[in-house]
Amino acid sequence: MKNIVILISGGGSNMAAIARAAREEDWGRRHGAAVAAVISNRQDAPGLGIARSLGIATAVVSHKSFESRERFDDALADAIDAYSPTLVVLAGFMRILTPPFVSRYQGRLLNIHPSLLPAFPGLDTHRRAIEAGCRIAGATVHEVTADLDHGPILAQAAVPVMADDTPERLAERVLAVEHRLYPKSVADWLMRGSSRQA
Ligand code: GAR
Repeated sequence: MKNIVILISGGGSNMAAIARAAREEDWGRRHGAAVAAVISNRQDAPGLGIARSLGIATAVVSHKSFESRERFDDALADAIDAYSPTLVVLAGFMRILTPPFVSRYQGRLLNIHPSLLPAFPGLDTHRRAIEAGCRIAGATVHEVTADLDHGPILAQAAVPVMADDTPERLAERVLAVEHRLYPKSVADWLMRGSSRQA
C-alpha cells in the first residue's frame, strides 16, 4: 500500500477533500494508496478533529516544543516516517521547511499554494493579488523544493477576481477550487507513480 501522510496547520479542508476523494474514488483499488495519517504542528488545528471523524490516524508535533527549525523538522520527519509514506502532502501546512527535510522527501512532497505561482509566493496572497489589480487569481499544486513556493508546477486553476472582491471572499472561492484541484493532482501523481513502476 502506498501511504499518504498529510500535514496541516489549520482548517484541514484540503486534507478532507483528499481523504474523501480517496474513499469515494477507491484509491485503494485504483492506486493501491490510502491516507495513512494526518499530522499537525498545532494541537488546536480544527482539521485534526475532521481527520479523526474520517477514521484517519492523527499526530501532533508542535513547533513550539523545539528550539530550532532543524530540531522540529527532525521530529516531524520521525512522526511522518512512522507511517512509511510514499507521498507527503502539505495541505495548509504553515511552516517553512529546512533543506534537509525537503531533500529527504524530494520528488514525493507536494504543496498547494493559493496563487498562480510564480506570482505571489509567501503569505497574504489574496490581498496582494487584489492590490496588484489582478483580474485572475487561483491556486497551484507544486513539488516542494528548498526554494519556498518555487518547485515544479504540477497543476493550476484560475479564479476570476471580482471588482468588489475582498481577500476573504477571494480566499473562499479559491479554496473551493483547491478542493477539486488538489485531490485530482494527488490522484494524477499516484497514477504516474504506478505507471513508472509498471
Ligand atoms: C489553503 O488556501 C492553502 O492553499 C493555503 O492555506 C489554506 C489552507 O486551507 N496554503 C498556504 O497558504 C501555504 N503557503 P485548509 O487548511 O482548509 O486546507
